[in-house]
Amino acid sequence: MNAREISGYRRAEAGTQPRALHPAYVSSRKRGPLQPLVRLAHTLSEVTGPRFVQTLHASSVCDLTRQAAGEPLGERIIVSGRVLDEDNRLVRGTLVEVWQANAAGRYLHKNDQHDAPLDANFSGCGRTLTDADGRYKFLSIKPGAYPWKNHHNAWRPAHIHFSIFGDGLLSRLVTQMYFPGDPLLPFDPIYNCIADEQAKQRLISAFDWEHTSPEFALGFRFDIVLRGREATPMEK
Ligand SMILES: [Fe+2]
Repeated sequence: MNAREISGYRRAEAGTQPRALHPAYVSSRKRGPLQPLVRLAHTLSEVTGPRFVQTLHASSVCDLTRQAAGEPLGERIIVSGRVLDEDNRLVRGTLVEVWQANAAGRYLHKNDQHDAPLDANFSGCGRTLTDADGRYKFLSIKPGAYPWKNHHNAWRPAHIHFSIFGDGLLSRLVTQMYFPGDPLLPFDPIYNCIADEQAKQRLISAFDWEHTSPEFALGFRFDIVLRGREATPMEK
């Protein structure tokens, strides 16, 4: 490939990505850029990236409920979806990583001192690769809401953090998946960093009968688009 054959990713539509400086999200006041951003051309370094080998993950389902001797407490969920690129092509064999709080709203991390119980049987972390159809699937526990001191009585809506590598370093997406009908969403400054209503909706998973397993777990579908007009908003 020579430089003339490289076409960069399309730029995001206005309002579909979070504002870097959103005063209601208090930590963005210190880290949001105060000067206009400088646009750089996308070169080979940006539109290509690491490849992942399927042998890393023998199972097609990443099971966060079977990482310890016992079962974690909480409501079992099956989260699955497809990863697509900005031209609606499947993204196969790409690394999808998740991390989340336990059912009580507590992370297994020293910085999380929320007064809620840890679960010895739940790390909250998992990773898998998309299959030949660009699909991924996790079995997990529905995360609880947790307080985060952004403002008086601030609670994060239940969410699962996602990182997806995609085909290039600039297609890597770090985002958060929410649950339908969560009453905390309208009050969450992180969710509200995004101006475009349709883009916000793309962060909310859909209840999924197809993957709901009788007598076992509820299904939620979360499709992810890397870069482009319909892209899933990036976490800032
Ligand atoms: Fe979180």
